[in-house]
Amino acid sequence: MAAGLLEDDDDQWDFIEKHPWAKHMVITIAILFFVASVSYLLWVDQPDFAPREYWVKVPGVEGLERSDDAVAAPTFNITLRVNTEGISRAVCGRGDRVDVAYEGVPLAHGDLPDFCVPPATVGSIPAVASSEGLGLPDELYERMERQRRRNERVKLAVHVRMHEITGSRGSPLLLSCTAILHGRPKGPFLCEVFGLPRDDFTML
Ligand SMILES: *[C@@H]1O[C@H](CO)[C@@H](O)[C@H](O)[C@H]1NC(C)=O
Repeated sequence: MAAGLLEDDDDQWDFIEKHPWAKHMVITIAILFFVASVSYLLWVDQPDFAPREYWVKVPGVEGLERSDDAVAAPTFNITLRVNTEGISRAVCGRGDRVDVAYEGVPLAHGDLPDFCVPPATVGSIPAVASSEGLGLPDELYERMERQRRRNERVKLAVHVRMHEITGSRGSPLLLSCTAILHGRPKGPFLCEVFGLPRDDFTML
């Protein structure tokens, strides 16, 4: 038995000695395998980066009338856009809430759903913010109307909260965003980002 095995081994070495290209091929394959393994380990080990660029659009509103005339509560359809360019894996967020304010007065709030955005794209996450009362308080309504009549920009402050997002290492994320309801330029304006780990910033 043992002799038989040895003979087989000899045959293999004979083969390699007679065909030098076979040796080169074995070495090349070994090197390729090594490089692939190291690359894979580095890739698996790379820290997650959270996206840096977020902005908010308000594609639909209703109930922004004077409260006496209003038949609906202020309601804002909101789209949060998340730019995952330069990030090599899907980015997932655990949603918390959105808050909409005008001239420092809170107008509406709603839930931000959980979401995932594929790598290297700009994802859209829809949310709806609403309030209980009908229409706007008179003073706010007057102010908004004044801005519209003068063709000034009507700006909304939209705060978006997440419990966490890929790359935030479990920290909650707060986005402070501006959306333009009326007037130009319409944006988009990038949100200010709060809550990401500091060393995440310095590594970029
Ligand atoms: C908000 O979006 C919903 C669909 O998600 C739509 O039915 C509704 O009409 C929209 N409201 C406004 C004010 O655009």
